[in-house]
Amino acid sequence: MYRTIEWLDDSSQVRLVDQTKLPLVLEHIVTGSHERIAKSIKIMEIRGAPAIGAAAGMGMALAAIESKARTKGDLMEFLEKAADTLNTRPTAVNLTWATSRMLEVAKDTDGSIDEIIKRLVDEGKEIAEEDVRMCRAIGEQALSLIKPGYTIQTICNAGSLATVHLGTVGAVVRVAYETYNGDIKVYAAETRPRQQGARLTTYEFMEDNIDTTLITDGMIGTVFREGRVDCCVVGADRILRTGHVINKIGTYTMAITAKYHNIPFYSVAPASTVDMITNPEDVVIEERDPDEIRIINNQYITVPDAKVYNPAFDMTPPELIDAIITDRGVVRNPNEEKMRKLFEKE
Ligand code: MRU
Repeated sequence: MYRTIEWLDDSSQVRLVDQTKLPLVLEHIVTGSHERIAKSIKIMEIRGAPAIGAAAGMGMALAAIESKARTKGDLMEFLEKAADTLNTRPTAVNLTWATSRMLEVAKDTDGSIDEIIKRLVDEGKEIAEEDVRMCRAIGEQALSLIKPGYTIQTICNAGSLATVHLGTVGAVVRVAYETYNGDIKVYAAETRPRQQGARLTTYEFMEDNIDTTLITDGMIGTVFREGRVDCCVVGADRILRTGHVINKIGTYTMAITAKYHNIPFYSVAPASTVDMITNPEDVVIEERDPDEIRIINNQYITVPDAKVYNPAFDMTPPELIDAIITDRGVVRNPNEEKMRKLFEKE
């Protein structure tokens, strides 16, 4: 699979897959503007927690180049504003994690403006490389839970397209597929309203010849009752120190349904998605445009002014989660003590 986002050394620009066009056309956006990157994140041309983290990191590097600053003070001021511009979605922690990391690097680097810019470009690229390594490690960690012959239920897209390469859930599926000679299947939930499961997950797994069955979100209970899946593997936009997982709307319902049917429920994410500070009640759940629900394929499917509630994410409590799988290791039956042990090592 190709890279969802990459830095072009020759032109000092960023190239990303336009996910709003998939699966019909594979098109790229190439830009040298951090404001264009912010727009791409906002309108979901790039989406998925790790992918928007990488986009924000590279967006900060672009901002440094664009700033034309002559003093470090001016550069820092420009970068602070760029971070605000890039932090366009509130729920995935990877966005603020990446912009804060880039601000810290700028602050801690001594030398000329050109040297600081070079350091920021290197750091933006390193965030992306780290993501590739973390995803591979997640896939390897998950082998202790995923057995040959398993059928895995997914939601949304936490595949290659949601990261720089490979994916989080994508890595779990792909590493198991490689290890078990293709003996792994997927059920992908469509994921209303943006249909990332239908448009993106089904597309990218089918590209890799992985046996994938698409279902609508309302079919999950039936699929579980009929014994069609062995476990659920979902991504995360934020994992709290308490073990709460914030992920695409529908994840919570899937976890409750999985518990009722004794189907193991796993959430997977890189360390960059873990937020050891925020309390569950303080997480901001993004609410998106009501028209995402009212309109399909440019046509109203309801009364145009129908009242709508459109939260993009939900929160699954730790008691519904059998394990959190990360690049650093697996936390079974997650709780605060176990999360602290793994994520407060340094
Ligand atoms: O609104 P999206 O498409 O950005 O939401 C993405 C998800 O909820 C993913 O499951 C999550 O970011 C994990 S991606 C590896």
